This record gives sequence, structure tokens and C-alpha cells, in this order.
Amino acid sequence: KLLLFGRILRFVVDNLPVMSICGAAPLNTRSDTRIVGGQEAAAGAWPWQAQLVIQGGLCGGSLINSQWVLSAAHCFKSTSGVTVYLGLQSLTSSANVVSRSAAQIIVHPDYNSNTNDNDVALVQLFSAVTFTNYVRPVCLAADGSVFPSGLDCWVTGWGTLSYEEVLPPGRETLQEVDVPIVSNSQCSASYSTLTNNMLCAGLTNGGKDSCQGDSGGPLVTKNGTVWVQAGVVSYGNGCAQPGYPGVYARISNYQTWINSQVSGEQPGYISFQGAAAAARPLAASLLAVPTLSLALLLS
Ligand code: ARG
Repeated sequence: KLLLFGRILRFVVDNLPVMSICGAAPLNTRSDTRIVGGQEAAAGAWPWQAQLVIQGGLCGGSLINSQWVLSAAHCFKSTSGVTVYLGLQSLTSSANVVSRSAAQIIVHPDYNSNTNDNDVALVQLFSAVTFTNYVRPVCLAADGSVFPSGLDCWVTGWGTLSYEEVLPPGRETLQEVDVPIVSNSQCSASYSTLTNNMLCAGLTNGGKDSCQGDSGGPLVTKNGTVWVQAGVVSYGNGCAQPGYPGVYARISNYQTWINSQVSGEQPGYISFQGAAAAARPLAASLLAVPTLSLALLLS
């Protein structure tokens, strides 16, 4: 028992630095909770957002600890000459920007370029970055997390504002847009090759979506005060089309793989079990016990 306790204590201590810091965005002042149909993001609103410049191409990514960025496998047709920018908001300002070349790129070994299954990759930065209000890691959805249909999520990136628009140059300012989760059973009606490693988000009538150049970027949702990454921008039929949600790699299926590849401190994980509203039935049932016993006592 003592051994087990020691192990738990050690796990907590080992993970404390990232656990306690991940998912905080002090400069994201949104009260509740390009990208197509979105808006410009405020500086520091999404401090884990990375821009990956890959031989003229553009992808997104997310900072998961001081030296690793999560992105999409399909971004790395070429794995040489990759530069990662963090703390970037507008291409016209270098304030708060930190850049690193990639030391190593690990594409998921089971990535399937025909179906986009396992569209995840890890990028090790040449050296660690220091966290600021503009550069901070996101929390990752832990194994077994649940993202119910309709849950509001945010996706960010410098990608195109419509499917027809040509890349580069991409957008000058980071764009953000909120999209609801679409269940896999519903989404598989639109995409025949959808797997359980994928997650969909979008509006029934379209109009809001990620697009070309946003790939590899994070789809996040708020869990209390912290932001948790649910998905990685992967693919879609056009962008923001009615009946065709954006498809994301389902991060919660990769906790074991990510932990086996990432050196240094482990990323922070959060077990996400639906929106706050889903906690109500549990609270109600917990309340029911004392209420019932009180009722029995009084009768
Ligand atoms: N594959 C695209 C890229 O490389 C991202 C497409 C996302 N599409 C969508 N409809 N959500 O940038």
C-alpha cells in the first residue's frame, strides 16, 4: 500500500508542473465559454497555437509542453526545414513571438494517407521555450474522454477564409471560430471512411469551419477554467459546406502514444466528460441521498 501511495505521489509530483499550468489562457477574455465564418483572435487568446512553416506550406499545431508541439501527420510530406512559431498573432507583429526549428518530427506509425486515419504527428522543438502569457501549453483530452454532440468547441488557425482561396499567403491575423461537435454516427453519413479515431464538428447548415492551412491546429473546449484539446484539424469536403462537418483527429485516443514519444515533462491531461450541464444529474443524485434520508426521518 505504501508503495502504491509512493507511486501515486510521484506521479502527481512529476506531472504537477504541466498539470497545473496547461490550458490556461489569461489573455482570453471571452465571457462564456480564418477559418471560415470566424473572427480575428485577440493577442494571447490561444497561447498554445503554433504556426508551422513547412517548405512554403502552412500548418497549425499546439504546444503540449515546453518542447513539443502536436500537429497533423498529413502536414509532413516533407519533414525537413520545418520552423515553428509560437506567441504569434498577426504576421505584421513580432511582439511576443518565439520561433524554433524542429529537432525531430514523429508521424504516427499507423497514419493512413488514404483514409486520414491517425492523422497526428509530434514535433520536437530544437530547444525548450519559456512560458509567458502568449506562449503556454494546452491540456489534452485524456483517454476515455467524451465529447457529446452539440458541445461548443473552438478552432483556430491562419488558414484560408474559403475553400477556393489560394494558399499561400494565408491569413495575416489568427482566426477563431466556434463549432459544435457532431456525433460520429451522424458524421459517418457524410464521410464513409470515418473511424473512431476521428471527431467531427460543424453546423448543420455549414458556414463555420476550419479550412486549408488550418490543418494540425487545435480544436478545444473549455472545462471549467481550463482549455482542453479535443481534436487536430484533419480534413473535410470543401470547407463549411452544409452537411459536411470538419473532421478532426480524436486526441483522447492517443494519450499512450503521445506519452511514449514525448521526452521531458509529460503533457497535462484532462478527462473530459461532457459539458457542465452533464454534471447536474450527478449532483442531483448526490443531493437525493441526504434529502431522501431526511424525508424518511421526518415521516
Ligand atoms: N487538410 C486541410 C489542411 O491541410 C484542412 C482541411 C480542414 N477542412 C475542413 N473542412 N475542416 O489545411
